[in-house]
Amino acid sequence: MFEFGNLRFRPTEKEDLTLLHEWENDFELIMYSRSKPLNFMSMVQLEKQFEDWMKDEKHLHFIVELIESKEAIGIARLRQENWGNVKTADIGTYIGKKELWGKGLGRRITVALMEMSFNQLNADRCEAWSVEYNHRAHKALEACGFKKGGVVRKAAFVNGRKWDGLHFDILRDEYLKTRMDLLKQTLGNKLEEYLKKHCTIKGH
Ligand SMILES: CC(C)(COP(=O)(O)OP(=O)(O)OC[C@H]1O[C@@H](n2cnc3c(N)ncnc32)[C@H](O)[C@@H]1OP(=O)(O)O)[C@@H](O)C(=O)NCCC(=O)NCCS
Repeated sequence: MFEFGNLRFRPTEKEDLTLLHEWENDFELIMYSRSKPLNFMSMVQLEKQFEDWMKDEKHLHFIVELIESKEAIGIARLRQENWGNVKTADIGTYIGKKELWGKGLGRRITVALMEMSFNQLNADRCEAWSVEYNHRAHKALEACGFKKGGVVRKAAFVNGRKWDGLHFDILRDEYLKTRMDLLKQTLGNKLEEYLKKHCTIKGH
């Protein structure tokens, strides 16, 4: 388990598939997260996907839950990719509980994924994709230091028109420059606890 402020990142269990079935078939949620809102998922398809996740060690899939209530609020994923000897972490998330959008949780999840990428997995860079109309996601990524690096023109067709796909990334050095500020902003009074648990080893 990886704990970050009030959030816990834990493995996806078979019991979570019922909740994932609800989220993965939510038109609006999938329209924002993958820009393929009609890609509904049957329980059988989800079970197959779950089996595939179990085999792929390079692709981490988390359920994000609130530590206090143990309520699952969304998912986060991190895929490790190597281009030659440059290590990239491709990250993504959605908050399935839509009433929690716009309250700063997306930024907290993003910083947690960068901590995993840079402070645990030794990534050189971190990247994320988003669709043109997803302003909430762009704001959250940019607030965490991601820069818009590229545009794939007219890559998605949703609600009657084509939209660009946007590519965001952040390099290790860029992250390290703003890291403490981001940790302070997203962890508040839980900063010390986090640094003690995930940034030091007893006796060293
Ligand atoms: C994208 C997502 C993870 C962001 O998490 P979140 O908790 O909602 O985001 P945050 O509250 O941390 O930040 C959102 C920012 O966008 C702003 N915002 C909220 N609604 C907005 C809107 N409709 N248009 C533009 N900006 C908006 C917020 O004010 C906030 O900016 P601020 O920090 O400057 O105030 C979440 O909204 C979500 O799960 N959306 C659906 C799925 C999705 O889009 N996944 C990401 C795919 S790349």
